[in-house]
Amino acid sequence: MDDERSRRSLSFGSVAAAYAAHRPGYPLAAVAWALEPLTGRAAPQLLDLAAGTGKLTAALLTRRGGSVTAVDPDRAMLAELRARHPTVRAVEGRAEAIPLPDASVDAVLVGQAWHWFDTGRAEAEIVRVLRPGGVLAVVRNDEDPDARLMNEFLDFDVLSAREGGHDHGLTPPSHEVLGPVEQRRFANPHRTDIDSTVARVGTFSWMLAARPAERAAFERRLRAYLASRSETSGAFTLPLVTTVLRALRR
Ligand SMILES: C[S@@+](CC[C@H](N)C(=O)[O-])C[C@H]1O[C@@H](n2cnc3c(N)ncnc32)[C@H](O)[C@@H]1O
Repeated sequence: MDDERSRRSLSFGSVAAAYAAHRPGYPLAAVAWALEPLTGRAAPQLLDLAAGTGKLTAALLTRRGGSVTAVDPDRAMLAELRARHPTVRAVEGRAEAIPLPDASVDAVLVGQAWHWFDTGRAEAEIVRVLRPGGVLAVVRNDEDPDARLMNEFLDFDVLSAREGGHDHGLTPPSHEVLGPVEQRRFANPHRTDIDSTVARVGTFSWMLAARPAERAAFERRLRAYLASRSETSGAFTLPLVTTVLRALRR
């Protein structure tokens, strides 16, 4: 990974509180489908890898039984997670060197972070910590490609078009010890308003990498665009979608 990408992958801590406040969570149906292959396992141990402020952790904690461990390299992100989920074991670490023993978890879930990993090294670590028959689930939220509101703006705005601001791609895991990858999409309607939407976009890595003047100008354009649309007066619902890829460790 080049220096610029590596820096961006670790840029979220500077906006950890805004991230926790304005990024969407994940639908429980998506987590249920991801973990369906574990049905019948007593007290499954789940690893939220690249857990950040705990958006995916929150969905995992709604399940009964078992436990969740959160791993992330960013101290500021983990501090937000610990404040919100004080009972969760939260450990500093990276996907390429997971700080857990061999065959110690039933599932590894990765939310909104797969693209930041050195995938080959991360997959080797994931299959090392997974028990046989365990699940790897790669999860991601995006603007609904069929919804016009944000996509029209992101398509036409110079800064986000340059940065692939609404890229829906997810590279499937491909380690030889993993079985076939299955994919499912889930609606993830996100209740928001203009201020929160602008703040959410402000936590995207391409915004964090932009120069302050460029960033401020983008925020002004986004705010003006949203204010010009009738569907965004007061609180409104952004039709996000959650994509889940899942594969079983052989
Ligand atoms: C966009 S945030 C996603 C956080 C959380 N999973 C969520 O769904 O909101 C990306 C997270 O990946 C973490 N991260 C970046 N590079 C990583 C790596 N190599 N290994 C593990 N985590 C990494 C960052 O610190 C950040 O918390």
